[in-house]
Amino acid sequence: MKQTRYVTTPIYYVNDKPHVGHAYTSVAADVLARWWRLQGHEVFFLTGTDEHGQKVEKAARDAGMDPQAFTDQVSQHFRDLTGTLGLWNDDFIRTTEARHKAACSALWEELARRDEIYLGHYEGWYAVRDEAFYGPDELTERDGVKYAPSGAPVEWVREPSYFFRLSKWLPELLRRFDLPFGHPERIDVQPEARRNEVRAFVQQGLKDFADKPEKLDLSISRTSFTWGVKVPGDPAHVMYVWLDALTNYITAAGYPDPKAKRWKFWPADVHFVGKDIVRFHAIYWPAFLMAAGIEPAKRVFAHGWWTIEGQKMSKSLGNVIDPVALVAEYGLDPLRYFLLREVSFGSDGDFSRKALIGRNNSELADALGNLANRTLSLIQKNCEGCLPHKKDPRDTDKLFVDEAQTLPTEVRVRLESQEFHMALDAIMAAVRSANVYITVHAPWALKKTQQEERMAEVLRHLHDALRVFATVLWPFMPTTMDALFDQLGVPADARDLAALATPLPGGIALPPPSPLFRKIEIEAV
Ligand code: MSP
Repeated sequence: MKQTRYVTTPIYYVNDKPHVGHAYTSVAADVLARWWRLQGHEVFFLTGTDEHGQKVEKAARDAGMDPQAFTDQVSQHFRDLTGTLGLWNDDFIRTTEARHKAACSALWEELARRDEIYLGHYEGWYAVRDEAFYGPDELTERDGVKYAPSGAPVEWVREPSYFFRLSKWLPELLRRFDLPFGHPERIDVQPEARRNEVRAFVQQGLKDFADKPEKLDLSISRTSFTWGVKVPGDPAHVMYVWLDALTNYITAAGYPDPKAKRWKFWPADVHFVGKDIVRFHAIYWPAFLMAAGIEPAKRVFAHGWWTIEGQKMSKSLGNVIDPVALVAEYGLDPLRYFLLREVSFGSDGDFSRKALIGRNNSELADALGNLANRTLSLIQKNCEGCLPHKKDPRDTDKLFVDEAQTLPTEVRVRLESQEFHMALDAIMAAVRSANVYITVHAPWALKKTQQEERMAEVLRHLHDALRVFATVLWPFMPTTMDALFDQLGVPADARDLAALATPLPGGIALPPPSPLFRKIEIEAV
């Protein structure tokens, strides 16, 4: 049976159009999903939109629209973006869909049945922008307005509310955070720094409220607005938008139907999130699930934030980057490559056009593109356009041939731990070695000195290496690598990791090559 794999992006708020931060998470998830597809796993990749809550309700009101019509419109931008970014997602979920409301109600009822929910009164500070509650000691005050650590203004809220017994699950969470790698019950929060942050947050809470732990319970319903999923049996309340939103990950897997076709994918392998929403995914979400008797996701991976040309991205600065415009300007694959190459996944990074162009020109156009073009042009010109036969490597070829052959294993190790930048580092190191190899063995000169047999060997080794590069780079740049596969004569059913074990037959005709990447002029920007 095939191994099942499940990866998610956060579902995006539809209060505004997509920006490059959204594109980032989505591309990362797509690369991992495609990598698993290359390995022959059965993959479920989910993305979608988060459409309830006060923040979205307010955005609809500001636009003078009914919330449903408004969310239909903005959600469509996110759906269109999956096409623009070349995502191969298996589903696109909207929290306003009937299947999702049904899943939320079922989860609520299950929690209620298990006595994990009780009715009380909420009184405290709430930030609509973050859709989050804050404690008084977390706030700062400026000009009479109080702010959350995220910079969002908070308001005092007092209303009847249902509570979730979060306090009861915190010790169990700590136990699971601390289980060794590979333990089936471990909740793996990555990177390490985020895991420590989440643990410290839970520990501090447990310490501060040792004698009144119920203070740590979570308010999970609101009565002051209506744009949400109604609480079963008490329609004056709508569910807290984070309980609603997080549930999307099981809705799409078919919850509450245990016989659903997709339930086999749960628990998810990785939830990709930005660093600002780790708390929700690493504390609330696993607690809700454990309380309902459902296994939590195996890993939460939090990536960093992008600044734009050194500045925070914000509407007021007018520097919000539209990913659709970026793709139109630089092409999709250079953008996908840049996003995962430029910064180590998990750290913050700066988006600059100069850096994107630099990566495109030196690594894609020069190093990889020229290597492919030189090799394939020489095969066209000097081997009558036919792939040379494979021969055992000579001693002087061995190091190079081995480096290319072991590359997929190295990439696998890096991608299994979501170190996209390290995977690309290893691939680019191998591409550089191939450039050294072609320069040192100068196949163009061998023809002139009547060493045609040797020339053919060298070109074949290079061709084999290019096939490996196309395979391991396909998840990152699927369109361009499919073009490279075409030029290399790799048939459609041999473009995966297992197929690398079977060499292409010598003698097959190769099409004339054409450039894979174009150089971008810095002046043009
Ligand atoms: N709706 C919630 C998520 C619910 S998941 C059950 C949400 N939506 S969001 O649209 O505000 O943000 C989605 C993601 O975009 C978050 O992971 C956030 O970290 C990410 N980013 C927002 N700005 C970003 C950057 N400047 N850089 C990188 N990622 C950024 O939160």
